[in-house]
Amino acid sequence: MNPPLYAVPAAAGEAAPTEPGAPATDTAAIPRSVGDVLRNSQIETVFDELDRDLVGLAPVKQRIRDIAALLVIDRLRLALGLQAHAPSLHMSFTGNPGTGKTTVAMRMAQILHRLGYVRKGHLVAVTRDDLVGQYIGHTAPKTKEVLKKAMGGVLFIDEAYYLYKPENERDYGQEAIEILLQVMENQRDDLVVILAGYKDRMDTFFRSNPGMSSRIAHHLDFPDYSHGELQQIADRMLDGMSYRFADGAREVFGEYLTRRIAQPHFANARSVRNALDRARLRQASRLFADRERALTQGDLTTLLPEDIRASRVFAN
Ligand SMILES: Nc1ncnc2c1ncn2[C@@H]1O[C@H](COP(=O)(O)OP(=O)(O)O)[C@@H](O)[C@H]1O
Ligand SMILES: [Mg+2]
Repeated sequence: MNPPLYAVPAAAGEAAPTEPGAPATDTAAIPRSVGDVLRNSQIETVFDELDRDLVGLAPVKQRIRDIAALLVIDRLRLALGLQAHAPSLHMSFTGNPGTGKTTVAMRMAQILHRLGYVRKGHLVAVTRDDLVGQYIGHTAPKTKEVLKKAMGGVLFIDEAYYLYKPENERDYGQEAIEILLQVMENQRDDLVVILAGYKDRMDTFFRSNPGMSSRIAHHLDFPDYSHGELQQIADRMLDGMSYRFADGAREVFGEYLTRRIAQPHFANARSVRNALDRARLRQASRLFADRERALTQGDLTTLLPEDIRASRVFAN
């Protein structure tokens, strides 16, 4: 094997992880059972949070459990000397905007950290512009700087296919891809790369970049949310911000969703978040207009039907 062209050093002075859920291999006792690894890593807490915080996504949640099971068994094999080297854990997360890819990637980073596959468990999210320079000689240092930041965690490359522009022969994206490929191969024991974006574009990207495709061990597909799931996501988000729908407002929001889904640039849960943010603005202006009235907790936390109905989405 060729020596790595690019070896990204870990940042100096990093301590080994000590938080609860640090790698099982840190503990004196050698894990012998699945239960040992689960107790040491406490990844079940992450599963519980995933189930509690994220509406729907059943196939994604199941895939994450399957991957975790593989890693737990891997740990046990390692303890018995059956496993020689780190498995490849690079992944692709495909789906439309707002389907939870970034959110799930953060949880994945936590799981990988708790199982001892990465030292720190942080997520560095980037796009093409963070990796590729404008001029000759700028791309390698930019990409290496990002890789250095991501070492010990997960590098999440959003819309990864923009790195590859075959129509432009001298595109610097190719240089970034080559560096990434090296590091994905040689430093996979300390860095997991997740490529994210639309499914069809990612498929095309993989077809043109077999080197990248062959390094991706897990492909997760994020489906669009149903109307009912979007409604539940809205409830969950409002609850998290100490707001609630007044009688009738929830139904208006349901109507809002039906209209909004049919419009261009609908972005699943992100559109829900944006719609709620605008409804909160309207609620605030409504309350603001009545200066002398003492506002109750109910006033301050409740979104009325009119706060939703005033949206542009209801025009005509
Ligand atoms: N299943 C879900 N349940 C609750 N909130 C969600 C869910 N999926 C996404 N969100 C929220 O929607 C927003 C967009 O999600 P994000 O992970 O950034 O999507 P993507 O990366 O696919 O564009 C975030 O605020 C996130 O917390
Ligand atoms: Mg995202």
